[in-house]
Amino acid sequence: MKTFASAAGALLSLTFCSNALTYTNVSEVPLYGLSPPVYPTPEGNGGVSPEWQDAYTKARALVEQLTLEEKVNMTRGHTGTCVGNTPAIDRLGIKALCFADAPDGIRGQEFVSSFPAQLTVGATFDRDLMYRYGKALGEEYRGKGINIALLPVGGPLGRVARGGRNWEGFGADPFLSSVGMGAVTTGLQGQGVMAQMKHWLLNEQEWRRLPGSMGESISSNADDRTIHELYAFPFMDSLKAGAVSAMCSYQRTNNSYGCQNSKLLNGILKTELGFQGFVTSDWDAQHSGVASANAGLDLVMPDGGYWGDNLTEAVKNGSVAESRLNDMVTRILAAWYHIGQSDGYPDVAVHNYNVQAPIVDVRGDHASLIREIGAAGAVLVKNVDNALPLSKPRFLNIYGYDAKTPDAPWTNPSRFGGGYEVNFGWNTLNGTMVTGGGSGSNTPSFLISPFDAVQRRVIEDGGMVRWDFASVNPETVNVNTDACLVFINAYASESFDRTSLKDDFSDRLINNVAANCTNTIVVIHSAGIRVVDAWIDHPNVTAVVFALLPGQETGNSIVDVLYGDVSPSGRLPFTVAKKEADYGSLLNTTLGSGPFPQDNFTEGLYIDYRHFDKYNITPQYEFGYGLSYSSFSYSDLVVTKTNVSTSEYTATDAIIPQGGHKQLWDVIYNVTVTVENTGDVTAAEIPQLYVEIPTAPKNQLRGFERVKLEAGESKTATFSLKRRDLSIWDVFAQEWKLQKGSYPIFVGASSRDVKLTGSLEI
Ligand SMILES: *[C@@H]1O[C@H](CO)[C@@H](O)[C@H](O)[C@H]1NC(C)=O
Ligand SMILES: *[C@@H]1O[C@H](CO)[C@@H](O)[C@H](O)[C@H]1NC(C)=O
Ligand SMILES: *[C@@H]1O[C@H](CO)[C@@H](O)[C@H](O)[C@H]1NC(C)=O
Ligand SMILES: *[C@@H]1O[C@H](CO)[C@@H](O)[C@H](O)[C@H]1NC(C)=O
Ligand SMILES: *[C@@H]1O[C@H](CO)[C@@H](O)[C@H](O)[C@H]1NC(C)=O
Ligand SMILES: *[C@@H]1O[C@H](CO)[C@@H](O)[C@H](O)[C@H]1NC(C)=O
Ligand SMILES: *[C@@H]1O[C@H](CO)[C@@H](O)[C@H](O)[C@H]1NC(C)=O
Ligand SMILES: *[C@@H]1O[C@H](CO)[C@@H](O)[C@H](O)[C@H]1NC(C)=O
Ligand SMILES: *[C@@H]1O[C@H](CO)[C@@H](O)[C@H](O)[C@H]1NC(C)=O
Ligand SMILES: *[C@@H]1O[C@H](CO)[C@@H](O)[C@H](O)[C@H]1NC(C)=O
Ligand SMILES: *[C@@H]1O[C@H](CO)[C@@H](O)[C@H](O)[C@H]1NC(C)=O
Ligand SMILES: *[C@@H]1O[C@H](CO)[C@@H](O)[C@H](O)[C@H]1NC(C)=O
Repeated sequence: MKTFASAAGALLSLTFCSNALTYTNVSEVPLYGLSPPVYPTPEGNGGVSPEWQDAYTKARALVEQLTLEEKVNMTRGHTGTCVGNTPAIDRLGIKALCFADAPDGIRGQEFVSSFPAQLTVGATFDRDLMYRYGKALGEEYRGKGINIALLPVGGPLGRVARGGRNWEGFGADPFLSSVGMGAVTTGLQGQGVMAQMKHWLLNEQEWRRLPGSMGESISSNADDRTIHELYAFPFMDSLKAGAVSAMCSYQRTNNSYGCQNSKLLNGILKTELGFQGFVTSDWDAQHSGVASANAGLDLVMPDGGYWGDNLTEAVKNGSVAESRLNDMVTRILAAWYHIGQSDGYPDVAVHNYNVQAPIVDVRGDHASLIREIGAAGAVLVKNVDNALPLSKPRFLNIYGYDAKTPDAPWTNPSRFGGGYEVNFGWNTLNGTMVTGGGSGSNTPSFLISPFDAVQRRVIEDGGMVRWDFASVNPETVNVNTDACLVFINAYASESFDRTSLKDDFSDRLINNVAANCTNTIVVIHSAGIRVVDAWIDHPNVTAVVFALLPGQETGNSIVDVLYGDVSPSGRLPFTVAKKEADYGSLLNTTLGSGPFPQDNFTEGLYIDYRHFDKYNITPQYEFGYGLSYSSFSYSDLVVTKTNVSTSEYTATDAIIPQGGHKQLWDVIYNVTVTVENTGDVTAAEIPQLYVEIPTAPKNQLRGFERVKLEAGESKTATFSLKRRDLSIWDVFAQEWKLQKGSYPIFVGASSRDVKLTGSLEI
């Protein structure tokens, strides 16, 4: 019996047991970081949206007809056809719901696409590509009859440089992530698929994310302001775009488990952000029965957890109000109605690899979008004397394990069963890496390796290739070669944090090739940050591309960039330090100690580039950095105040719309700049707007646009600054607030490459 499972539990008196630890002495329980109790759970009612209200009316009518046992059954998932399932109730026409892994493709199925990881999508800094990515994913999930896609990912955000799941998100900045969260949610849900935004909240590392023999899980102790301005920020845009479900996270926050933290669920999500949908536990993330029910959890996955018969009992004896149970079921059914799945949604067509089933091919024409995103998300960081683009080379040498199709997974049929450790991307030193590992992995139906695609191009050009995928010191560097392409990768996966941001084998490979090849071009496929200090200044390393995780078309995408069919415009969605130690306390996962490990987020708002700016540490390549084959000039910064009032909120709606107070989304300032392509090739540029908000970190990204320009062409880029984007979270008022004063801004080509400056007055 765990008496003090959480702060919320302690205050509520836990009535169900946990399998973890037994504490009988209150003085042994750390009192730091108590999570404020917020009860009861606000009942979903549709808020201010007529569509949601209509869905609620229909949902309530069904719930009234359900028995207690049926209602309890609806709140507990089960394993089966899909990664998670809810039961059908045939007599009322309630369909079973199928939940499937994501975020970069349907995991473990056949005839599905392997999309780029969200990190690559983030690196495009392109709203339209983000939207089309969500839409294409939606077409595939819908095609397979999957009701709920476990995406998009707004956390981890990337606080810990070595975090194992950072690649599942859009990058280490809340604004970049917020744009991705909104666009992908809109695209996905536009296809009638429910988005399940995750992981709510502060799930920033893998180490001790789960309780076990060492004790409880790690407790992410972040202050209220940091929670709002950094970690909840991206989720607001997903909610604003209409996300109908959220996944609560594994770890504890202020000592209270993510799926029973009343402040995070009842408080921030369901009250402050007006969430009308349902909260699902991450798989096996439930650690109490009554406490999680009352703290705002609506659906437990993948099996009954602490609910089932015990929840029936708790409702009967009054520990959980029946209205709370009704609210759980109503929220699930309202989401189902709201998204439009009650009528005409395709039947579930997923299966395990050993079940014979008809082919349901959902790939459509997504290969071309995947190729486009892969190229747009490739970040060129070094290019000496126009080493790139390649100009019809006659003779190429190709090196490195990452150039070729992987060996093992292709012959392992269990991969198609959605098995965990056999996911694509696992055995990376034996092949190219197109996604990371774990539940966020995907399952390519085919794969165009870099070698395949480069060789095809060489054949077209009447050239030849030599290759060595295995040796760390290739003996075949031919003096006649035009260029040596070296492909390496840096792997990361759910369940593990990384122990290094580099590896000795790959570093030695590059140095060995460079020793004998004056034109050594390095391509890095990485599931997060990869430091380059071992060879970046080598005079024979002439070009370096961070190609991140591009999905199935990886070879085609990189050929498009290497050969100049697409001028690179990708920007780093994280900071690459000169050396790992420069990340300071944000390099490593927090180990924690004892049965109640604590992770104090003492850096507050200062993660990634904010950390480097604050401590004046020069990075190797800063957040937002990336080169082009063209050149650009910036001019005419114009700041226009809209006619929106910047005084206190004027709207007095008692009901908060999903995503937060409606005035948070009002545009207060427009900033425009003119960007001209002064080079001689068609290319895209990514002007970025950074704002210095009083009392906040010096420069924060608050606008970007991908501007496509022919040689000589000029266009205007517009950055619309919303009230939320210029506000801070006032912990005393418990509101987003604009502060009076002058806000310096700059528009630049990265977080450090300032082109034009100005200021806003509030
Ligand atoms: C409870 O723990 C505290 C701190 O370890 C200790 O001083 C105290 O004696 C313990 N009380 C009991 C009743 O064991
Ligand atoms: C966690 O504790 C900090 C410090 O007391 C507080 O500012 C914050 O709001 C708390 N957050 C949650 C979710 O409990
Ligand atoms: C509830 O679920 C259990 C387990 O799946 C099943 O055996 C039972 O028949 C269900 N009860 C109702 C009333 O649907
Ligand atoms: C229900 O409660 C009993 C007694 O507390 C416990 O042994 C059992 O594991 C619980 N069942 C579930 C599904 O949580
Ligand atoms: C109510 O039922 C729950 C679930 O079985 C149990 O844990 C709890 O002790 C019960 N409470 C009372 C007051 O009987
Ligand atoms: C690569 O594959 C070979 C043969 O399957 C295996 O022996 C070796 O351990 C693999 N290397 C890595 C690093 O996984
Ligand atoms: C580089 O050249 C040196 C000296 O000729 C030779 O020993 C070494 O094996 C060569 N390495 C490669 C990668 O060709
Ligand atoms: C660069 O490559 C050339 C040609 O192989 C070689 O002679 C030279 O030593 C290399 N430079 C360095 C610094 O290794
Ligand atoms: C990170 O962890 C490693 C051990 O994995 C340790 O050697 C190193 O000192 C740590 N670095 C920092 C900056 O905490
Ligand atoms: C976390 O912060 C609390 C409150 O300041 C402090 O007591 C505790 O020692 C800190 N824990 C760690 C591991 O730094
Ligand atoms: C601000 O920019 C948006 C987006 O381009 C535009 O719709 C709006 O009219 C602009 N408002 C003002 C006042 O310039
Ligand atoms: C802002 O201007 C628009 C168009 O001119 C007008 O419709 C609107 O009422 C104005 N809003 C405010 C708050 O003044």
